[in-house]
Amino acid sequence: MPGMLTVGRLSDAAGAEVTGIDLSRPLSPALKDEILAAFLEHHLLVFRGQRLTADQQLVLTEQFGEVEGHVGRAPDGTRWPLVHTVHNLDEHGNPTAEPDSVGNYSWHTDKSYHAEPSLMTMLHALELPPDGGDTQFANCALGYVTLPGDLKRAIATLQVEHSWEASRRKLGGPPATEAQKRERPPVTHPLVRTHPETGVKSLYLGSHTSHVIGMPEAKGVALLDRLLAHTTQPEFIYTHQWRPGDLVMWDNRCLLHRAARNYEMGKHRRVLQRTVVKGAKPF
Ligand code: OGA
Ligand code: MN
Repeated sequence: MPGMLTVGRLSDAAGAEVTGIDLSRPLSPALKDEILAAFLEHHLLVFRGQRLTADQQLVLTEQFGEVEGHVGRAPDGTRWPLVHTVHNLDEHGNPTAEPDSVGNYSWHTDKSYHAEPSLMTMLHALELPPDGGDTQFANCALGYVTLPGDLKRAIATLQVEHSWEASRRKLGGPPATEAQKRERPPVTHPLVRTHPETGVKSLYLGSHTSHVIGMPEAKGVALLDRLLAHTTQPEFIYTHQWRPGDLVMWDNRCLLHRAARNYEMGKHRRVLQRTVVKGAKPF
């Protein structure tokens, strides 16, 4: 059956642009299946020219699974709502070059410090700088499959500890409080994970990793650094240049991502509306 959507690949590394759909309206089952098939094939989908309220983005996200809540809190102490924004604004709503949260600028996969990390993240561009403010995505299935055979064998069964606390420590943030550590205990995930829907293996790592289980710390960290450098080489990266109205959904099970600081952060506003579909325990 011919598809209802037009799907155009964006780069060799990952990503496809999907046209012919208004995401503010509920999806028919056939359309949702088509989107999911494209999502699994390309790992990241870009829908241009969308205009979704917070409620509409929530309804869209719910169609793909359980919407993920957040452990993190806003500066006023309240939990982030299910639909929230990522932005470069200070407490007065003005653009700042030193936003509270800097974690998004390092390669990571969302919530890998949870036992059941994020499956899909959706960002919808509300306000953008005149240029720059890109998001980069690295294909970790390509990162895995291009490793030499002996290295693949050496890492096949390795387990890695991820933690919010380690992530924070590495980024130079203020030390985690005891309450924060209790709320977010470390978790262990395989270094090579198998995609539950496609069976494709990929490296699972990023800025939330702490150390490799059963390996001297420095040796494990050096291994993680080497694998991260490998899977984030330019050929494995898709750089998304945002346009107003873009909605991008990506697969955290096989991609790393980071925000680029390639705009005047202290001058221009960058606001993206964000929702996440919760995933399952990696294997
Ligand atoms: C995120 C994230 C990057 C960006 O929302 O999870 O990492 O470019 N965002 O804002
Ligand atoms: Mn992220």
